[in-house]
Amino acid sequence: MKLWQTDNSKTDNQLVEQFTAGDDISLDEKLYRYDLLGSLAHAYMLSKIGVLSTKEFSKLRAAVLKLLDAEIHLTVQDEDVHTKVENLLVHKLGELGQKIHTGRSRNDQVLLDTRLHTKDKLSEIALSAMRLAMNLNTLAQRHEFVPMPGYTHTRRAMPSSVGLWASAFAESLLEDLVLLQATYELNDRSPLGAAAGYGVPLNLDRELAAKLLGFKSVQKNTIGVMNSRGRLEFAILAALSTLMQTVARLATDLIWFSADEFQFFQLADRFCTGSSLMPNKKNPDMLELVRARAASIIANMNQLAMITHGLTSGYHRDLQETKGSLLRSLETTRATVQIMSALIVELEVNEEKLEAACSADLFAVDHVIEQVQKRVPFRQAYQNVKRNLSNIKALKPREALKKRNHIGGSGNLCLDQLEDAIESQMLLWQIERKQFQTTLEKLTKL
Ligand code: ARG
Repeated sequence: MKLWQTDNSKTDNQLVEQFTAGDDISLDEKLYRYDLLGSLAHAYMLSKIGVLSTKEFSKLRAAVLKLLDAEIHLTVQDEDVHTKVENLLVHKLGELGQKIHTGRSRNDQVLLDTRLHTKDKLSEIALSAMRLAMNLNTLAQRHEFVPMPGYTHTRRAMPSSVGLWASAFAESLLEDLVLLQATYELNDRSPLGAAAGYGVPLNLDRELAAKLLGFKSVQKNTIGVMNSRGRLEFAILAALSTLMQTVARLATDLIWFSADEFQFFQLADRFCTGSSLMPNKKNPDMLELVRARAASIIANMNQLAMITHGLTSGYHRDLQETKGSLLRSLETTRATVQIMSALIVELEVNEEKLEAACSADLFAVDHVIEQVQKRVPFRQAYQNVKRNLSNIKALKPREALKKRNHIGGSGNLCLDQLEDAIESQMLLWQIERKQFQTTLEKLTKL
């Protein structure tokens, strides 16, 4: 029976049930554990404010623990995971099960479940992003002074290096993490107690429920809590989009630089596929999918903006449609970052090809600067070199790279500092993740 029904008579309505439940049937299975843990914390809080007796809480706790060990499969009749969990509790405990919904609504319950799920996924993504950053930094350290043409407008420009190229992505990932961290913090606030959006006439201990579930704080204003659904998801997807854009750019570079025309890098066979027709092909399908999946995250972000745009304050069923975009984007980002990490570890660097590609034209600016250092005005030196371009001399690329010794130049990449920054982020996120997991474990031991 649905939570909002007074009898079972209206359930013979397959068409409407199917339509209303939508993707919740499959998506909500991912939230099952969090719905139970949320129920446990809520019940404990109710016992502390005298709505449930201690005995009632222990009975509820025992039932919830049993359900935590069970698998769940939702059907359209279940409507969603919140209904399913309550029905299971009522089935096990009768009248006592009917008390669990005191002081809450599915509106704050769904927010709670998705926030817990998001916390878990975001910290996993942050750690994977840092692993990818570390692998890129290691690649940069190993090939710090391996010359590589630098491009602007997709045209050959100046001497660059594998070190400069690879560590650029490591630095970008660290920047992406700043945005991710900001959304993690917004997400790390407990919505529980907002109920349907207007609280309840009970002295709910919202702080206690938040603490039990490991949230840093309570998100206070009850309408504000409702209005943050979709809005927060949008911010999270913006952060994921930025991260995925970094990864997609890396993928695009690799697609080109591993092509026969360049041969700067070689992709490990296991990340490539062949053609069903052309025996000669080794295709970078995985990297192409990375690019397309980054585009899907941006599309999902736009979908969230469209769904929430123009809504009045408070809960609307429209908001259910934000769940799929969020859950799928978290999963896609995690998988994409992880596979890129593995690909970078196995990437082969073709030093000979890279060095051979650094022809004399790339050193035009080096010749200009040589004259500038002999006090020739820059514009004159520029003209002198430009008039003589056909006779330009190639320089020793490694020496040229080392001369760019300002901060962030190929001769001064500060890779050790970068390594330290990545390592400390890894440590912070590992601690955060561990804390989240141990808090939830502790909750089951109340
Ligand atoms: N499945 C619903 C959602 O995701 C749960 C909340 C339903 N609340 C309601 N008032 N109909 O939004």
